[in-house]
Amino acid sequence: MVTRSIKPLVAGNWKMNGLKAELAVATEIARGYDRELKHTVDLAICPPATLLFPMTAALTGSRIATGGQDCSEQESGAFTGEVSAAMLADAGAGYAIVGHSERRTLHGETNAIVRAKAEAAQRCLLVPIVCVGETQAERAADKALAVVRKQLRGSVPDASTPATLVIAYEPVWAIGTGLTPTAADVAEMHEAIRGELGKLLGKAAAAGVRLLYGGSVKPSNAAELMNVPHVDGALVGGASLKAEDFLGIARACR
Ligand code: 13P
Repeated sequence: MVTRSIKPLVAGNWKMNGLKAELAVATEIARGYDRELKHTVDLAICPPATLLFPMTAALTGSRIATGGQDCSEQESGAFTGEVSAAMLADAGAGYAIVGHSERRTLHGETNAIVRAKAEAAQRCLLVPIVCVGETQAERAADKALAVVRKQLRGSVPDASTPATLVIAYEPVWAIGTGLTPTAADVAEMHEAIRGELGKLLGKAAAAGVRLLYGGSVKPSNAAELMNVPHVDGALVGGASLKAEDFLGIARACR
């Protein structure tokens, strides 16, 4: 067991899943988030934007936060289809995932765009969850650490603090595949991330920033992953759609 100085965060990324009927999953999670769990782990659910407002309402009093899955780098105006950080905040969100690999690959988001989105989130007092991670080819070429360090240098806003920034390390090849890196590989990467943040933000700030691991996290592997040094929680895709699985991952942080 590692001794934790940072309260872990388990965040669910529902991706493009969830209609009104699935609000029941959120309320079931809230029912299972008991006093002991509240003491040991923070929870957040990032539903599709259409569910943000009703989900935040459904979770009132539960101490479970909600978040957007992306936000525009623009404040407002003629940007058809985009959702601004202010809109997420207005709908009750506390977090905004930015730079998820699916956005980086499918929507061509560069580090500069991701940084602008993270800054937009921070301006609206949302905490950006900035995602980084290498592809399978980059890991095979022994470039994983260099790739992730470069993503951090390009995407993390200056002067971020533990209260205004969360990082999620999500190896692209581990997302939705059932594959996970070894505990040793996660430990090496998270230590490198902490070190790089130290250069960017100063050691004291970097020491408190929550570093989540994401990619095929499920109840059966969560305890091992959450016990890796410098892993301060999880960003969960598929398993966050089932209340029992999401709660199982939260319990693994105890
Ligand atoms: P899975 O947990 O489904 O692998 O997805 C991880 C992810 O992309 C979370 O953002």
